[in-house]
Amino acid sequence: MKLLAVASEIHPLLKTGGLADVVGALPLALARLGIETQTLIPGYPAVMAAIGKGVKRHRYASLFGETATVIGATVAGLNLLVLDCPAFFIRAGGPYDDPAGNGWADNWRRFAALSQVGADIAAGSLKGWRPDVVHAHDWQGAMTLAYMRFGPAHAVGKVMTIHNLAFQGRFDAGIFPFLGLPAEAWGMDGVEYYGGTGFLKAGIVSADAITTVSPTYAREICTPEDGMGLDGLLVGRGDRLHGILNGIDIESWNPSSDPLIARPFGRRTLSGRKASRRIIEQRFGLEQDESPLFIVISRLTWQKGMDMLAASLDQLVQQGARLAVLGSGDHALEGAFLAGAEKHRGRVAVHIGYDEPLSHVMQAGGNAILIPSRFEPCGLTQLYGLRYGCVPVVARVGGLADTVIDANVAALGAGVATGIQFHPPAIAPLQAAIARAVQLHADRPAWTGMQRAGMVADFSWQRSAALYAALYASLVP
Ligand code: ADP
Ligand code: GLC
Repeated sequence: MKLLAVASEIHPLLKTGGLADVVGALPLALARLGIETQTLIPGYPAVMAAIGKGVKRHRYASLFGETATVIGATVAGLNLLVLDCPAFFIRAGGPYDDPAGNGWADNWRRFAALSQVGADIAAGSLKGWRPDVVHAHDWQGAMTLAYMRFGPAHAVGKVMTIHNLAFQGRFDAGIFPFLGLPAEAWGMDGVEYYGGTGFLKAGIVSADAITTVSPTYAREICTPEDGMGLDGLLVGRGDRLHGILNGIDIESWNPSSDPLIARPFGRRTLSGRKASRRIIEQRFGLEQDESPLFIVISRLTWQKGMDMLAASLDQLVQQGARLAVLGSGDHALEGAFLAGAEKHRGRVAVHIGYDEPLSHVMQAGGNAILIPSRFEPCGLTQLYGLRYGCVPVVARVGGLADTVIDANVAALGAGVATGIQFHPPAIAPLQAAIARAVQLHADRPAWTGMQRAGMVADFSWQRSAALYAALYASLVP
């Protein structure tokens, strides 16, 4: 089976969030099931630097008015088809935003172009390779499925994965004539969305199967509370909607062989975690003691509940705990954490930025990872935490609900608890959860039992990849 994935991020080449982890890990797991994946991604500067010369596979004299080339390359075991289009993708700034943090004004054109190329590949534009199934990720890849549906018919399956319904790729109605779609693509059953153009919406209505990244989020997005305007549509397509939990790359996230942490450890050698804790204390300028050290590795946004945590710093410190935050995002939230660190010097510290090696050390040395998300399609940092004995303290939503077993009396008694859940995602329940974690941390056998239960839980890609493989197979005629 041949699969074309279309996405705008892929680890280890370019990452702003968990999407990249998934797009980078799934092909390796699918390969073991006999599925060959080629992944189409934009030629951002970091991507162009990583692929070297590559092999030219297809050339466009005019792709939305720009010259472009599809370049084939293999990096870190991943088969890449890179859309080299400097006018669209070689820019100072982020993949989606200009240096001032505003979305690029021509984002619709950049990702419509990527998607058009995906649809062309599905129609056979590459010599010697054509996919059986196309798998589009998030709004940036979604239009691929619309171009396929409204273009010449080919027997190629169409899968749309929603990693986060909050990002929908909504644009003015005025761009429609420039998308190169037939007039009938405009309308309720096409790309029209509340009077504008909706890329993710177009992908959802064009797909043969829709997936999202956890079973609970699949249910939540069918409700008005969490459906973000798309719930009606998703309910209508409910028979094609599947929740498939993300896995993690258990090789790069392996505490017994991770070269990025201070000392390797396993569930019988948990004392080895202390060496990484000492590094965190040094790097963050935290007091060195045996009090519980909470960590955060996150985008600092409303989705992640970071405002609620920023409002809980006094309480956390009063409990005798410490906190190390690694993240970046909303400037107001960055400021709130910086102010909290100033106020609670030695007890609360924050690193504004993105630092992958440091994130490994934090999972290896932190006692508990705080994830108070208001909604969370899957979440990966709780899975890394489980594997590293860094106990997750999470809001019971989305994938967090599906992957953490709360330390209630029954679960503790049975030895299956792996973390702490709270609900609803609000300040008082969050603070109660922090207090519970501090108390449990003082109960060494209970805490160690939770760490060990989390470390043996299996979140490798094997199971999820098999579910995707079965889904793809069901779409191939
Ligand atoms: P989301 O994709 O919504 O941001 P996930 O939990 O799915 O949330 O994925 C976030 C990914 O990004 C994880 O791999 C996490 O370790 C990583 N990450 C987030 N913020 C940082 C940061 N500041 N430094 C390093 N890694 C980070
Ligand atoms: C999104 C979600 C996150 C999920 C990730 C990968 O970024 O916010 O919950 O883990 O995609 O699927």
